Amino acid sequence: MSVQTSDIDEDIVRDFAPRLLAWYDRAARVLPWRIAPGSDAVPDPYRIWLAEVMLQQTTVAAVAGYFARFTERWPTVADLAAADDADVMAAWAGLGYYARARNLLACARAVVRDHGGRFPDSETALRALPGIGDYTAASVAAIAFGRPAVVVDANIERVMARHRLIEIPLPQAKREVRAALAPLVPPGRPGDFAQALMDLGATICTPRSPACAICPLMADCRARGRPVIERLPVKPPKKAKPHRHGLAHWIERDAQVWLVRRPDKGMLGGMRALPGGDWSDARPTESGIAEVDHGFTHFDLTLTLVRRKAPLAAAEGIWWPISDLDAAGLPTLYRKLIDKMLERDA
Ligand code: ADE
Repeated sequence: MSVQTSDIDEDIVRDFAPRLLAWYDRAARVLPWRIAPGSDAVPDPYRIWLAEVMLQQTTVAAVAGYFARFTERWPTVADLAAADDADVMAAWAGLGYYARARNLLACARAVVRDHGGRFPDSETALRALPGIGDYTAASVAAIAFGRPAVVVDANIERVMARHRLIEIPLPQAKREVRAALAPLVPPGRPGDFAQALMDLGATICTPRSPACAICPLMADCRARGRPVIERLPVKPPKKAKPHRHGLAHWIERDAQVWLVRRPDKGMLGGMRALPGGDWSDARPTESGIAEVDHGFTHFDLTLTLVRRKAPLAAAEGIWWPISDLDAAGLPTLYRKLIDKMLERDA
């Protein structure tokens, strides 16, 4: 290694966290699960964990209402562990990625059963809980327990890929991001450090038009002023998604509609839904009263709503007042479809 390179690295190691944390001390977003920098309040691991699970693949703005409702209804991990599965699934409706809600419950129950209702305080023990992956284990360890874990989410990936000019595409870039970040984590404030990077990524080092002029890390950001900055981190080539089709049945009686619960395994598992057949590659021949396109992670779906006279004889379900569908806990896919139909009728 040349002398010059190691000088630069040492400067970065020395200056990165203090610059970032000084900015965070002034500019930290006020968030319902967050302990403000400088406060001597003790973080509640349950709230931190819940927020981190909710925030995966979702924005802070989308999560805020859900977080408030969950913590009001289930203030502790023991309350959540004792909840009915159906209530939790319904309360999650609209957040998407429903396997996360099932894992959320499994995790709460494991914390109560195996850990006496207290979250374990190390990354390794957290990682062993249901539904806790590398990201959640690291973020909870850092934010709730002050462990010097290396936390990498999409915002942090973007900040680091730019600051260190990491031009290899994702997902390979993740290793380099992690390697670049590890020596920068300050042992005294690892949780604030992770959250500061998240906030920086969300508010300054944004995907488009980053506000470099006001960035606390601009002095040694290698991508600053280069056109490549908006393309970092480099995304992997997009795979073509398969397209599937399905029918949903609108069965109405006395201002009520027939709803079912989807099987626990599979897409939208355990969620309340309109009845209907399996989803397949073939477009249905029947034309419907409404149609909606919905993107899942691994495929796109066109769902067509058709009228049916009565539920199948042996089917399990419930008649639900059409005027109270908000309370049914339907996933967004079905809400969109029903809203389209009702709009058309209006
Ligand atoms: N995104 C995911 N976790 C977050 C956190 N703790 N603060 C802000 N944004 C986040």
